[in-house]
Amino acid sequence: MSPVNSRRGDHSLQTGSHLNLCLFVVGELLLLSSAICLLCGACGCPEKCRCHSEAVDCSRQGLAEVPCGLPPQTLTLHLQDNQIHQLPAFAFRSVPRLVTLNLSNNSLSTLAPGAFHGLQHLQVLNLTQNSLHSLENRLFHPLRQLRELDLSSNNMSHLPTSLGEPWENLTVFAVQQNQLQHLDRALLESMPHVRLLFLKDNLWKCNCHLLGLKLWLEKFVYKGGRTDGVICASPDTWKGENLLTIPHELYLPCPSPPPDLVPAQAQQPGSAHGAALRPPESRPAGELDHLECELKPRRRPANLRYAAATIVITGAVCGIVCLLMLVATIYGCTYAAITAQYPGRPLAPTDEPGETGGKELLDSSPA
Ligand SMILES: *[C@@H]1O[C@H](CO)[C@@H](O)[C@H](O)[C@H]1NC(C)=O
Ligand SMILES: *[C@@H]1O[C@H](CO)[C@@H](O)[C@H](O)[C@H]1NC(C)=O
Ligand SMILES: *[C@@H]1O[C@H](CO)[C@@H](O)[C@H](O)[C@H]1NC(C)=O
Ligand SMILES: *[C@@H]1O[C@H](CO)[C@@H](O)[C@H](O)[C@H]1NC(C)=O
Ligand SMILES: *[C@@H]1O[C@H](CO)[C@@H](O)[C@H](O)[C@H]1NC(C)=O
Repeated sequence: MSPVNSRRGDHSLQTGSHLNLCLFVVGELLLLSSAICLLCGACGCPEKCRCHSEAVDCSRQGLAEVPCGLPPQTLTLHLQDNQIHQLPAFAFRSVPRLVTLNLSNNSLSTLAPGAFHGLQHLQVLNLTQNSLHSLENRLFHPLRQLRELDLSSNNMSHLPTSLGEPWENLTVFAVQQNQLQHLDRALLESMPHVRLLFLKDNLWKCNCHLLGLKLWLEKFVYKGGRTDGVICASPDTWKGENLLTIPHELYLPCPSPPPDLVPAQAQQPGSAHGAALRPPESRPAGELDHLECELKPRRRPANLRYAAATIVITGAVCGIVCLLMLVATIYGCTYAAITAQYPGRPLAPTDEPGETGGKELLDSSPA
């Protein structure tokens, strides 16, 4: 009997220590989580935000940066109407499932290159009413699923040529109310399924460089795409006109460079001449995009400078080679002349042995 009793006592002692251990671990965890909560200012839902299951609303709270402690299951994040002035890299690391992000009406002037890293499910990004003046080439690269990108009412004077890989799912692209003068059609070509384009209220410079955009937009509208139009701000000829309605025959394409200034075409002057004579409409539009009329005049002095340098270098090399050849010839000639004077004999510093030999011959013959 007694061994059984003692065994029972052991058992209860063991469960008691287990319980103590559990309480200890739970206590530690609570302490740790409260420490984390203290660091972030809130637990579960950030202090200044309202969290409704998967939507978090932090708008109009005077926030200066993205609040921390956002619930990881967040799908929609409202950060509009705050004073957020910068987005560091991985700013949304804690909400990887985000689908809609609203940063409208904040004070953003720059975005760190990795600001949107990890948001591979993001579909709607609203950056309207900020002070953005430029965009990093690879900024939106992680946003593979993006459907709507709104960059309206910022201070952008140019956009990158490309924003990374093609955006298969992008259907809305808005850059109205900025300071854009030019838009490279390569950027639009990286959005093969865009249906809505907002381009109004910019400083569009309807010179020859915008022909690529005009041709692209004509095709876009023809295929059923919708745009609010590109209203020219300059030059004076087209001020206030819609780029799309300017007749082709009045719109001057960039002049093609004279054949002698294009190295690749210089070898086939006939074909280059043919291209120059073709009417502008029949020319491949991509070709025109790359003809930089402002760059062309600068090519000539560069070419001339290169030519002059080549002549100088060639002259110097030629001179040195000629001089060496002359020295070699003089040396060879002298050597040949000296050897010819004393045939069959090695050149000796003194002529005495030869002379004595001659004397010996002369002396020995009568003897
Ligand atoms: C922009 O946000 C500020 C608060 O930061 C607010 O007072 C203002 O009304 C907002 N503007 C618009 C157009 O909503
Ligand atoms: C973002 O916030 C603005 C201002 O409140 C609102 O008009 C807009 O609909 C919001 N956009 C998205 C995608 O939530
Ligand atoms: C972004 O927010 C603005 C208001 O600030 C709103 O007019 C616009 O429709 C929103 N864009 C998108 C794509 O939701
Ligand atoms: C576009 O969206 C569909 C779902 O609507 C998704 O399956 C596909 O992966 C997306 N495309 C890209 C390039 O992310
Ligand atoms: C952005 O442009 C607006 C006018 O479009 C101007 O009032 C504002 O000062 C500019 N902001 C910056 C930061 O350049």
